[in-house]
Amino acid sequence: MRAILARSEQKKDVPWDVEKFFQSGVFEIDAMLQYAESIQPLREKKCALDFGCGVGRLTQALASHFERVCGVDISPAMIQHARNYQGSEGRSEYLVNETGDLRQFRDSQFDFVYSSITLQHMPARFAKKYIAEFLRVLNPAGLLLFQLPSHRKGNFARVRTLAHELFDPVLHPITPRVMMSGLSKHEVIQLLTEHCGYVLDVASDESAGKDWESFRYLVQKTPQSPAPSP
Ligand SMILES: C[S@@+](CC[C@H](N)C(=O)[O-])C[C@H]1O[C@@H](n2cnc3c(N)ncnc32)[C@H](O)[C@@H]1O
Repeated sequence: MRAILARSEQKKDVPWDVEKFFQSGVFEIDAMLQYAESIQPLREKKCALDFGCGVGRLTQALASHFERVCGVDISPAMIQHARNYQGSEGRSEYLVNETGDLRQFRDSQFDFVYSSITLQHMPARFAKKYIAEFLRVLNPAGLLLFQLPSHRKGNFARVRTLAHELFDPVLHPITPRVMMSGLSKHEVIQLLTEHCGYVLDVASDESAGKDWESFRYLVQKTPQSPAPSP
């Protein structure tokens, strides 16, 4: 759980309070759905996808709003923990996704696609591919909401990032490191547009920590123009 909410106020030597941890997911999902639906109400709430679900903090919370929720994660260990925490309620399903795409899901399968503090932990080229896939698996009447940092804040940000990457492993050799990367807002919007995404809103977000500028993107599919008649 520390690996998931590393920047939380939880003190290092105090064990995690599991109830509080999952409650934080309920607060996040309630707030995010309220925000999204204040802009574009969802027509149907059958099926949702939580990409990078970890131990199911947000997947469980989504299950109170959708008939079925699918949590996917690259880590089999996370998926095993998510299944153990799931208890007996049967609305959520947890699947390992080890490919660089979402080929195990059909086109237009989900009414809501959500991803939080996940795309930032992979090289930008992978994040781009997943964002394109989010749009493929999104129902035309559905909503996509994801968080992604753009860049480190402050002057000399590039130098600081480089210095951090070079010297941190030497200065703190036994501290586990989590990679952080971002994509500029301009690039993200361009990518979404190229993949038939229509950006409804972009909001500032603090979940990547105080050193990073980060955004949440609320997106729907652009209606496809009808095929020209022969
Ligand atoms: C910081 S945790 C966030 C978990 C969850 N979204 C939450 O907020 O509680 C990031 C998760 O992303 C997962 N992850 C990283 N790269 C991934 C990828 N390429 N595909 C799916 N999950 C990935 C990690 O295994 C980890 O469980």
